[in-house]
Amino acid sequence: MTDGRTRTFHNPVHIRFGPGALSALAELARSRRTIVLTSDGMARRGVLRTVENALGDLVVATYTAVTPNPTVLSCTTAFEEVRAADAELIVAIGGGSVIDTAKAVAAQDAAGTDAWLSAHLREGGPFPADFLPPAILAIPTTAGTGSEVTMWGTIWDERTGKKYSISHPRLYPESAIVDPLLTHSVPRRTTVATAFDALSHAMEAIWNRASNPISDALAIRAIGLIPDALRAVLESPADPDARERLASAALVAGLAMSNTRTALAHSISYPLTAELGVQHGIACSLTLPEILREVGEEFPDRAALIVQALAATSVADAVDRLYALFRSAGAGDELRQHIGSAAALSGLRGSFIAPGRADNFLVAVEQASAAALLRRAYETICA
Ligand SMILES: [Fe+2]
Repeated sequence: MTDGRTRTFHNPVHIRFGPGALSALAELARSRRTIVLTSDGMARRGVLRTVENALGDLVVATYTAVTPNPTVLSCTTAFEEVRAADAELIVAIGGGSVIDTAKAVAAQDAAGTDAWLSAHLREGGPFPADFLPPAILAIPTTAGTGSEVTMWGTIWDERTGKKYSISHPRLYPESAIVDPLLTHSVPRRTTVATAFDALSHAMEAIWNRASNPISDALAIRAIGLIPDALRAVLESPADPDARERLASAALVAGLAMSNTRTALAHSISYPLTAELGVQHGIACSLTLPEILREVGEEFPDRAALIVQALAATSVADAVDRLYALFRSAGAGDELRQHIGSAAALSGLRGSFIAPGRADNFLVAVEQASAAALLRRAYETICA
């Protein structure tokens, strides 16, 4: 990019990465009164017990009822359950939904009222002037969300299906513990969806108006790692080396995205998730090949970064490789479960053009062309 603009890259999250990194938990908690937020699944898998044992008396409340795709209501309920704990630290252990919920709970805690989140998201109510939420220590258990290194969380409106984002520089987690050992038991379906989510974060950072040399470097690294690492994990789910490569790719993709935000592929995904129940990682990645094709025509220098990262010979070859990866990972079956035919896509009511997402994309796109692009992607993957 040679338009003379200066670029900023900033990310304040302290990161511990590597197999066994979870052992740093007590050190990073620094004797603070702690709320633990997680899901039922984590509690069943015994991860919660490991966390509670490591923190001992520091744990003043535990909430295990976080569910996928957090809503205004689910985040308010979580806050009501833990508000009396008066915690200084929120430890969020789980997938993106748990870490996003932690951000909403932290914000409500700083605002001091359970009505604040609804007013903020639905009516644009401001953050308090002295917004000082409790610190968040994020421990992702999937390789893909990136929420452990961003200052925002996705919250849905349970009434309307609308997607909101809560975002504030003070909602960056203070620390992230990224321990690939925690991902070894993640089921295949979630492994695939979260890996594609990470791939989407990386590619969306490349074709983004906010791209910069640092986000490019991180994104290129992630795009280069994900296809082979995902294939290796699907072949042998307990392969520690492949799980580690996938976890590192998801982390660096998240770091890239933390400074660019996402773009058109995520924008198109929201009605697919809200109205048809398609998992986020599948919904936000199925259009990547078609979008790459478009970028190849209008911004060949940006497309070339992705082509090279995929070790492809051309944009067309990169598109073919991406579609082959989707098919080999079973993304078509996943899509067909939620979308019986391309006709179902015509019935979607929500917009594919989400402000703050679609307009990060280098090319201006309208609803009709986004719909056509989505249809082509669906038909190619599900053919
Ligand atoms: Fe995403």
